[in-house]
Amino acid sequence: MEPILQVKDLNVSFNVRGGEVKAVRGVSFEVGKGETVAIVGESGSGKSVTAQTIMRLIPSPPSKIKKGEVLFKGEDLLKKSNKQMEAIRGKDIGMIFQDPMTSLNPTMKIGKQITEVLTKHQKMSSSEAKEKAVEMLKMVGIKNAEERFNQYPHEFSGGMRQRAMIAIALACRPSLLIADEPTTALDVTIQAQIMDVMKEMQERLGTSIILITHDLGVVAGMCDRVIVMYAGEVVETGTKWEIFKNPQHPYTKGLLRSMPRLDQKKDEPLIPIIGTPPDLIKPPLGCPFCARCDEAMRICERIDPGATEFSDTHMARCWNLHPMAKGEQSS
Ligand SMILES: Nc1ncnc2c1ncn2[C@@H]1O[C@H](COP(=O)(O)OP(=O)(O)OP(=O)(O)O)[C@@H](O)[C@H]1O
Ligand SMILES: [Mg+2]
Repeated sequence: MEPILQVKDLNVSFNVRGGEVKAVRGVSFEVGKGETVAIVGESGSGKSVTAQTIMRLIPSPPSKIKKGEVLFKGEDLLKKSNKQMEAIRGKDIGMIFQDPMTSLNPTMKIGKQITEVLTKHQKMSSSEAKEKAVEMLKMVGIKNAEERFNQYPHEFSGGMRQRAMIAIALACRPSLLIADEPTTALDVTIQAQIMDVMKEMQERLGTSIILITHDLGVVAGMCDRVIVMYAGEVVETGTKWEIFKNPQHPYTKGLLRSMPRLDQKKDEPLIPIIGTPPDLIKPPLGCPFCARCDEAMRICERIDPGATEFSDTHMARCWNLHPMAKGEQSS
């Protein structure tokens, strides 16, 4: 599949008192045209920092992009000027965040917020833009769209704001949509509706999506491929079924046991992964998961494992998966 986005060896740090937080460490992945890729991982694993770096929305300082490339349609976004990025955001790349109030303008009518995007990026006349904006509101399932067009964000419910944000993000038919926990704050029924809207829009418009989520049901329903992040690194990637049915990395296995699933039996408990992620000011020399891993060997403490490939689409970074490993346990 032709990639629309290629992230290569991305390294992002934060300068804080006490040192440098190495939040994203050597992250590489691709997103194909029309593909939906999930990024999953515990809190603090670097998902949002990765997404915000792609969009160049990460405030610098305190952050610093130390190394890497973000090729969008072959061009490195990390080399673009702020002005060029402004033109790309909202037009070629749309985004949706967890809290719509951070990206909706509370002082501007919802309709105007959509038409503004259209007149700015697509050079539509204002009457064309209005027609299109109403159509977008209808498409994301907002009833009485003509009336709603003239209302302010505070007159919308949480779910409707989220829908409005999707309408704004998709108004210019971006080829890539980045959604960072877009439904976490909403109740379950509304979550499902919003996901349906995104999926339908994607099918209609052929958008590629990067979806950051803690919800494996959403991953199962929406996504083609999964990227598993831990302590700023990609520790496993695979198609949805490779990750669900045949997870390889001990962290991925732990994560699957700790997160709610669709096929969960009622009395089957969620098992949290014991321990905490490493301090990213002083990341471990070896595998970052080593201290929490039941299967750790001596080498795991010292040398970061490289990628072992199981198929064209499936790889994981773990010494036990190394072709020469015979499961020799330490301790
Ligand atoms: N402004 C900042 N200053 C210092 N450190 C930061 C800053 N923003 C993020 N970090 C650090 O970067 C790391 C990655 O954070 P990030 O927000 O990407 O995690 P996440 O995977 O999105 O987690 P969550 O699931 O909770 O949203 C964390 O260790 C966090 O403490
Ligand atoms: Mg986050």
